[in-house]
Amino acid sequence: MDRYIIKGGNPLVGEVEIGGAKNAALGIIAASIMTDETVTIENLPDVNDTNVLLEAMQGIGVRVMRVDRHTVKINAGKVFSHCIEYDYIKKIRASYYLLGALLGKYKHAEVALPGGCKIGSRPIDQHIKGFKALGAKVNLSHGNIITTADHLRSTHLYFDVVSVGATINVMMAAAMSDGTTVMENVAKEPHVVDIANFLNSMGARVRGAGTNVIRITGVPKLHGTTYSIIPDQIEAGTFMFAAAATQGDVTVTNVIPKHLEATIYKLTELGCEIEEFDDAVRVVSKGNLKATTVKTLPYPGFPTDMQPQMGVTLALGSGTSLITESIFENRFKYLDELARMGADVKVDGTTATIRGVDHLSGANVNALDLRAGAALCIAGLAADGVTIVDDIHYIKRGYEDFDKKIRDLGGIMEEVSGEESLSKVRKRIG
Ligand code: UD1
Repeated sequence: MDRYIIKGGNPLVGEVEIGGAKNAALGIIAASIMTDETVTIENLPDVNDTNVLLEAMQGIGVRVMRVDRHTVKINAGKVFSHCIEYDYIKKIRASYYLLGALLGKYKHAEVALPGGCKIGSRPIDQHIKGFKALGAKVNLSHGNIITTADHLRSTHLYFDVVSVGATINVMMAAAMSDGTTVMENVAKEPHVVDIANFLNSMGARVRGAGTNVIRITGVPKLHGTTYSIIPDQIEAGTFMFAAAATQGDVTVTNVIPKHLEATIYKLTELGCEIEEFDDAVRVVSKGNLKATTVKTLPYPGFPTDMQPQMGVTLALGSGTSLITESIFENRFKYLDELARMGADVKVDGTTATIRGVDHLSGANVNALDLRAGAALCIAGLAADGVTIVDDIHYIKRGYEDFDKKIRDLGGIMEEVSGEESLSKVRKRIG
C-alpha cells in the first residue's frame, strides 16, 4: 500500500508552480472526441484522473500521443465504439462527460451509470433532463445509460440545481445540435468557462459561460485546435491553506488570482497576509489564526473542494469556527480522522463546529477521498511528530508530484510503499 509519511513542524516557505486544472482537463479531454481532426492540449496535469480518462478514450479507438508530460495530441477520427465500460466510470466519475461528447458528435452514447461516491450520493438527473430536452432518448439498461437521437434539437432549459457536471455535459451535446439552446441556472465555475472556450476554439458557438445563462448555437462540425488549460484553483488553494496552517510564506505561481477570490478572502479573515500579483498570490501566516465561518457554495462562492483544507486550518485557529457544507452531504468524514490528531470537532448534519486547539499531533490517518487526503497531509505538516496518510491513490487522482512540491517548500513528506520502506524512512526522519 502506498502512503505518505510526513514529519510536521516545518513552515512551508517558497514558490510553487501550479499545474493545469484537473476538472477543466477532464471536460476538455472528453470534448476533444467531438472532432475527427487532431486536438493539441497544453498545460495538461499529469494526474491519475486525466490519465484514466485518456485510457478510456483509447479503448474506443481514440489516438493519444504524448508530446511531453503536459502536452497531448488527441485524434478521434477512428472511434469504433460509443460505449464506456463501468471499469472506467468506477475509477473516474467524470468519464460521464463522454455521454455529452459522444451524444453530440455521434447521436449515440452508452456509458456506465456512475454510483454514489465517498462525498455524497451524486445523482445525475440534471444531465439526463438536459439530454432529453435536446430530443435524445435516455434509457437505463444493465447499469448503463444509453442515449440516442436522430438529431439533437435546440431547447430552453432551466436546471433545478446548479450543477457543474450537468452544465458541461449538456453544453457539449448542444454544441452539435440544430438551432440555439438556452441553458439557465448553470454553473459558473472557471472550468465551465474553460471548456466553453475550448469548444469555441474548435468552432462551436457557446456564449455566456461564466454567467447564469449559457446560449449555444449548434454547429454541424467541429475542427482541430491547440488549447492551453487554465491553472488549477484547487491545487493553488491547497498550497495556500498549507502555508496558513504551517505558519509559512508561500507564493503560488501560474495562477489566475480572480479564480481564488473566495479562498483569498477567507485566508484574510483568518489573519493571513495576502499579496496578489498578475499571475501569482503570496500567503504569509504568522500564526494566531483567527476563527471564522464559511459556507460552501457554487462559484463564486467558497468551493466545496477547498472545505477540508480550510477545516484542518481552522482546527488550529483560536476560537470556534463553523463550516456549513451545502454541496455534498458526506464531506465531513475527514474530521473524524482529524479528531484522531487532536482536533476538537463536532458535526451536526451539514454544519461542523471546530474549536481551535494549540497543536495537532501526528497519527496514522486515511485519505478517504481526494481533497480530504490533501487536507490531512496539511494537518500532518502542521502537527507535532509523524503522520502517516494511507490510501494516497485518492490524492494522486488530482495532485501532480504533491510530495515533491511540499518538499521543495521545506516540508518533510515522502511516499513509501510497503512496511520496510516505511520503517526505513521513519528512522531517517526521526
Ligand atoms: C464538480 C467537480 C467537483 C466539485 C463539484 C462541486 C468535476 C469533474 N468535479 O463535480 O470536484 O466538488 O463540481 O463544485 O468538475 N446534483 C444533482 N443532480 C445532478 C447533478 C448534481 O442533484 O444531476 C447535485 C449534487 O448532488 C450536488 C450539487 O448538485 O449536491 C452539485 O454537484 P455538481 O456541480 O454536479 O458536481 P460535479 O459536477 O459532480
